[in-house]
Amino acid sequence: MGKRKMTISEIEEMNYYDFMSYLGVQYFHIGGPRSTEEMAKLCHIDRTSKVLMVGCGSGFSACFLAKITGCYVIGIDIAEMPIKNARVRSIDERVEDRTEFITGDAYNLPFKEDSFDVVITEFVSQFLDKERAFGEFMRVLGPGAYAGINEMYRDDDIEPHLKTKIDEAEALFTEVTGLHFNMHTPEEWRYYFERAGFKDIEIHKHRPFEGFRDMLDTFRSMGGILNTTTLIVRMLKYMILSKRIRARFSRLDKGKRILFNNKDTREHVGYILGIARKCP
Ligand SMILES: C[S@@+](CC[C@H](N)C(=O)[O-])C[C@H]1O[C@@H](n2cnc3c(N)ncnc32)[C@H](O)[C@@H]1O
Repeated sequence: MGKRKMTISEIEEMNYYDFMSYLGVQYFHIGGPRSTEEMAKLCHIDRTSKVLMVGCGSGFSACFLAKITGCYVIGIDIAEMPIKNARVRSIDERVEDRTEFITGDAYNLPFKEDSFDVVITEFVSQFLDKERAFGEFMRVLGPGAYAGINEMYRDDDIEPHLKTKIDEAEALFTEVTGLHFNMHTPEEWRYYFERAGFKDIEIHKHRPFEGFRDMLDTFRSMGGILNTTTLIVRMLKYMILSKRIRARFSRLDKGKRILFNNKDTREHVGYILGIARKCP
């Protein structure tokens, strides 16, 4: 992709996460740095830990983790553009000696058994086949090591018309990202860990945005007024230039409105921090 200016049709052809990374979106998971910090505590990450972040995107959390704990982080993602951006970020944030970023597939991790103390996904496992992915996480973890996931959940026992709405949002995100998006119930997330053979499972439920402080933190970590404005201007530019990109954003917006703006559905969704151990 180099430094040559890309044409609109090349940009239209990009996969969703390459495109968002091209625009300069920092990260995608709800809970932001605060949830990553909580995950670090729950997974007992310290300066001696070797951590794998699967679906690391542009490396925001990987660099953040390396900075706050001093641990060593390898980030892996199937999309190329985010990995290129992550390498630049690690230099900008002066953690290049404690981070490494590679392209690769969660279903076929290029590591030997017993390579990591912790494997983390943030808004990634919800797109994956849990049996295959969790099996891979289990394989590369050492005895006693932790898996930590930050993924969206939906409540189990909800009225049929709300269930239909949430199904619609799932279908919209699946269409936009080209990845099968599934918001499991907290019980289902627990079950996927159990099925892969994990023990000591904890599922912590969180609301999507827990107050004004969360909104402010998200805004700050997205780069504050300057970066957010630049991002919005870039989005608007491509929406004006391309009908396909306009359609993509409109579907994305519809899905987000169902999940986060509709007061009835909003009550029944959020994200879980799921922690589990590979017992010796
Ligand atoms: C919603 S984004 C989350 C990115 C990052 N974890 C964050 O919180 O910003 C999902 C990421 O998972 C990556 N991904 C999807 N399927 C993957 C797979 N099979 N192997 C590795 N990465 C994958 C996508 O390319 C994308 O960067």
